[in-house]
Amino acid sequence: VNDAPRDPAGRGLDYRELIEREARHWGAAQHDPGNPQLWDDPRLFELALARPYRHLLDRARARGGPVLELGSGDGDLACDLGALGLEVTGIDLSPERVARASERARAGGLEARVRFEAGDLNRMALPPAAFSVVVAHDALHHILELDALLDRVRGALVPDGRLLVSDFVGAGVVEKLACAAATAVLPTARPYTAKWRLRGRLAALFATERAKRAALDRGDAGALHDESPFEGISQESIERRIAARFEIVERFTFCPFWYNVVPKLRLPRSWKAGILAAARRVDEPLHRRGWTRGAYVFVEARRG
Ligand SMILES: C[S@@+](CC[C@H](N)C(=O)[O-])C[C@H]1O[C@@H](n2cnc3c(N)ncnc32)[C@H](O)[C@@H]1O
Repeated sequence: VNDAPRDPAGRGLDYRELIEREARHWGAAQHDPGNPQLWDDPRLFELALARPYRHLLDRARARGGPVLELGSGDGDLACDLGALGLEVTGIDLSPERVARASERARAGGLEARVRFEAGDLNRMALPPAAFSVVVAHDALHHILELDALLDRVRGALVPDGRLLVSDFVGAGVVEKLACAAATAVLPTARPYTAKWRLRGRLAALFATERAKRAALDRGDAGALHDESPFEGISQESIERRIAARFEIVERFTFCPFWYNVVPKLRLPRSWKAGILAAARRVDEPLHRRGWTRGAYVFVEARRG
């Protein structure tokens, strides 16, 4: 995979400065004890996220490699795919994450099949017709130039190849308000004084993709997350952009936004798991009828 830089996007804010900030954020981002996430606790992960994750693994295995992973982070998915016997190339913006992922592959004895490289997916060229499957897990909502990337992904897939995406597609204003209020009021892992200091982040939490893109064009950084400027830059349009280029074979949503509040509560771990299990029992039948929505989507798309 070659890096073919082109001119910055010509926006009001300096692209290079923003993308360097994004890379620094992800390079440093490890487990934050003040902000526990569903994926930090195996029991919560199992309840909220494991089924779609396993479905993605199954679908990739069914197609076979070689696989390209976009935004491969610390290498969890690529190594899980490698352990299934698939040949995987993972690309991530952060050289620190690429180093951690490569170490993980080495530790798991997977280095012959699973390799990682650093690159900016907004810009880098992808080799033509080189992959049977392209996977992206929680990564596309960070991509500013998603249309251009999806065009290159299409070109990188063999005919009948699959794009498998599991991504955060955001929440409505009411859900965000309820979650922000619950997190502010209830005792959580973060002390109240620290939560108060985070009030400046509310603008970024409530900004839609359209508002974030407009802010970028105006050169106004206020609507952007200060450490991860491209957080949520493509979340609401991911499915539409995929559907414009690929045939959608399967799609479903999962994990309501407010599930993300549960890990943060200052409660014993078993209580959190109990709350999530009860919530899921209530939510699943409602979700099947389309009465509740998930904040995440799984999409399998076919290159015609
Ligand atoms: C939410 S993390 C997900 C990581 C991993 N896929 C996972 O599920 O654990 C988003 C990842 O996308 C990467 N990323 C963000 N912008 C990127 C870009 N322009 N090019 C390549 N990777 C990018 C970040 O470095 C980070 O590792």
